[in-house]
Amino acid sequence: MEDTNKILSATQLLKKGDVVAFPTETVYGLGASVYSEEALKKIFSLKGRPTDNPLIVHIHSLDQVSLLAINIPEDFYHLAKAFFPGPLTIILQKNASISSLVTAGLDTIGIRMPRHPLALELLKAINEPVAAPSANLSGKPSPTCYEHVVNDFSNKIPLVLNGGECEVGIESTVISLVREPTILRPGTITQSDLEKVLKKPVKLLQKGKKILCPGMKYRHYAPLAKITTFNDKKELCSKLNKISGERVWILTNRGLDTDQFPMYPYNCKNLYKIFRDSDDGKIDRIFILVGEEEEKDLGLLNRIEKAKIAK
Ligand code: TXA
Ligand code: MG
Repeated sequence: MEDTNKILSATQLLKKGDVVAFPTETVYGLGASVYSEEALKKIFSLKGRPTDNPLIVHIHSLDQVSLLAINIPEDFYHLAKAFFPGPLTIILQKNASISSLVTAGLDTIGIRMPRHPLALELLKAINEPVAAPSANLSGKPSPTCYEHVVNDFSNKIPLVLNGGECEVGIESTVISLVREPTILRPGTITQSDLEKVLKKPVKLLQKGKKILCPGMKYRHYAPLAKITTFNDKKELCSKLNKISGERVWILTNRGLDTDQFPMYPYNCKNLYKIFRDSDDGKIDRIFILVGEEEEKDLGLLNRIEKAKIAK
């Protein structure tokens, strides 16, 4: 864990219009004060992020919400009570005083209170809302440990706080409360978790089986390897028998009668690390066996589907 001096340096950097990477429980974020146009611009240029993809704003206290949003519905407070701090982002109507760089010109704003102790410590120390996308180069999997951030940006950012491995491993669930409650990005806080708290239906923005996430039009979460999913063990095994001369990894949470290729168990926490490691290992193909359990995990499934589409 980082010491008080590092938090102090991070706070000073943010205050003077620079960016700082920090751990959250989901993935690492690349932060800028919402009050620094200069730092906000740096986020987009460092990541190579399209300027029409809005940022999520991080807070440490509900007192900060009125700085960011207007017409805050009761449902916001119900969700905040149940899930803040934690891996949930809530979209509300934007307060006009916040820079349109943060929200990519939208009149709505994403707000989240992370629960990683270092993130909370930093947010308390600066006491300004901090806009932070995931701290990866656009098109790379989100970073789930300190080394991933350093690999993507080397010395291009002045400070990366080291909070070890992220506990969740995929990005926060995004729910919009601007109209009827609607999930825009699935995560580990599920539709039924949200419905239990709101005591009303929560929609899932999807088309057929595909979930339509904000930022979906961008290349995302893509390893170099081509990803193929299988629901059936036999189908996967017969495909493996036809492989020759390609470096293949198999992701499976069930046994498989082959020792031809490396096999790894997978979940939300390790998926992005596996993708990054497969790039380093110059793996050509990743075969993923999606069982009934994994099929129910919409957050996990969504990240796999995105990685498939990206190729
Ligand atoms: O877990 C997370 O949410 C991480 C950590 C760092 O907090 N952050 C993260 O940020 O994943 P980013 O920028 O990689 O993804 C933010 C997503 C994007 O798909 C963006 O389009 C969506 O949230 N988003 C942000 N503001 C929005 C808004 N006002 N309306 C709709 N979608 C929004
Ligand atoms: Mg991202």
